Amino acid sequence: MLYVFDHPMIAHKLTTMRKIETGTKDFRQHLEEIASLMAYEITHDFPTREIPIETPMGKTIGHELAQDVVLVPVLRAGLGMVNGIQNLIPNAKVGHVGLYRNEETLEPVEYYAKFPKNLDKAIVLILDPMLATGGSAKAAIDIVKKHGAKNIKLVNLVGVQEGIDVIEKAHPDVDIYLAAKDEHLNEIGYIVPGLGDAGDRIFGTK
Ligand code: PRP
Ligand code: URA
Repeated sequence: MLYVFDHPMIAHKLTTMRKIETGTKDFRQHLEEIASLMAYEITHDFPTREIPIETPMGKTIGHELAQDVVLVPVLRAGLGMVNGIQNLIPNAKVGHVGLYRNEETLEPVEYYAKFPKNLDKAIVLILDPMLATGGSAKAAIDIVKKHGAKNIKLVNLVGVQEGIDVIEKAHPDVDIYLAAKDEHLNEIGYIVPGLGDAGDRIFGTK
């Protein structure tokens, strides 16, 4: 299932990120803030369990999240979404998948993978600002599934139909969440209008 968030604050912040003149500090800050807002929406149906607690006024039944949440940023750019989501879910654990796109073939190349235990029982959020050809997201989902993950959600800022099609075909069980669905990919696989090279803009590497 595809969810595209239609929220004025997300649209406002994403517009700032898209602007060519937005520098590294503001780009990173807005990415964190959008990730936080998206996480708030995504978690609305997360299961909770009842726990007996005592307030200063007496005993009652409270609710806590019933499952671990594991964030899996796709390196590098996905790292820019972790803090924003951990502001909302401070106990979320973090796994990492290292992938980069070969600039000629656009195929993802894996260089790192490390996860917390019991991935099979957790809700796993794969984080990456960009869903372009979909190759990286598909590979990241393949990897977390190989490590046991069963309940997986893909969280991207900007995606295009090509990438959505790849994920829906390869992993129909994975929900996709976008802040915006953009028009198309250009001839070198970049999203248009998009926001440029997310990793470079987050880390100031260009
Ligand atoms: C970017 C982006 C995604 C991928 C999307 O990463 O962060 O991981 O490209 O493209 P795709 O959908 O066509 O696979 P990149 O390979 O530039 O690596 P980086 O984050 O290290 O810069
Ligand atoms: N990766 C990016 O960082 N940006 C794009 O537009 C496509 C892939």
